[in-house]
Amino acid sequence: SKPALILGLESSCDDTAAAVLRCTDDAGEILSSKVFGQTDLHADFGGVVPEIAARAHAERLDHVTEAALSAADVSLAQIDAVAVTAGPGLIGGVLSGVMFAKGLAAGAGKPLIGVNHLAGHALTPRLDPGLTFPYLMLLVSGGHCQFLSVTGPDSFTRLGGTIDDAPGEAFDKTAKLLGLPQPGGPHVERQAASGDPTRFPLPRPLLDRPGCDMSFSGLKTALRRARDQLVTAQGGLYQQDRADLCAAFQAAVAGVLAEKTRRAMVAFASEHGPTTIAVAGGVAANTAIRHALQDVADKTGFAFTAPPLHLCTDNGAMIAWAGWEQFRLGHQSDMTLAARPRWPL
Ligand code: KG4
Ligand code: ZN
Repeated sequence: SKPALILGLESSCDDTAAAVLRCTDDAGEILSSKVFGQTDLHADFGGVVPEIAARAHAERLDHVTEAALSAADVSLAQIDAVAVTAGPGLIGGVLSGVMFAKGLAAGAGKPLIGVNHLAGHALTPRLDPGLTFPYLMLLVSGGHCQFLSVTGPDSFTRLGGTIDDAPGEAFDKTAKLLGLPQPGGPHVERQAASGDPTRFPLPRPLLDRPGCDMSFSGLKTALRRARDQLVTAQGGLYQQDRADLCAAFQAAVAGVLAEKTRRAMVAFASEHGPTTIAVAGGVAANTAIRHALQDVADKTGFAFTAPPLHLCTDNGAMIAWAGWEQFRLGHQSDMTLAARPRWPL
């Protein structure tokens, strides 16, 4: 069939993003992908401020859309459908995106597709031709942490996940604790590269319990204790202390993720056999974590795949692709599409 041009819009957290994809039955070609981040706007607050985020999305959605269309050299009239994140996420941002997409779709007479942000992450590895259902997905971001058995574009089974913080959140809190900038993941990773992961033995929460559930909030507490002891003993933190703490933290997260992934693979394989483990979400950008997962995959007979880094963090292309996976099945939304702050897969 003729390729379709899909516009994807994302505004559920702190990135305002738009992308144009040329989609065929088995692959998507990214014609453009624009992401307007908000890190600078939230920098003084130590986290994303929902009010500020919502306002920035509302102000920028039209610019980012125009930038994506013009970079793709495509007019709105040529677009076949408008896909937008309809949840889960910060309600103000999701609402801004949904309202903007409705206006765009209605104004141009185009079909509208409401997309689940998590489905966007989970289906993104299929942008590359060749990844077929069923596969196992580890979604690890600032807000999410779960294992999904993905058996179709609409068919996800949760095999386990975090019972408290998401790993990205833990990376961000660790950075904050050590005086590193936000979002913390990349900074912690950079520090960890010159650190000794064995100097501070941190716990491996929930490894003693069966199943694929995880916990990361205890790590943060242990890390704070180690930091406070150093500060008391030395009057402050040296550069090497910071690097060693980051290395210990990262090794603990990678260790927990690797062992829980191994268990999720066993559960998945008992039903479907070993196929592919795909990883997505911002934390999947972490090289040490990727290597740990690759290693488990090699040992269990799974193939390992991770989208390129710019597709791991929030972007419009993942929403366009997940929208296309719905659209080609004949699914679309209408003007009653609601913004859903909570929307489990
Ligand atoms: O998927 P994402 O862009 O947004 C959502 O949370 O949906 O993920 C952002 C998270 C942040 O917590 C950030 O610190 C983390 O991903 N992150 C990383 C790395 N790069 C980003 N965590 C660990 N290592 C990294 N290199
Ligand atoms: Zn995300």
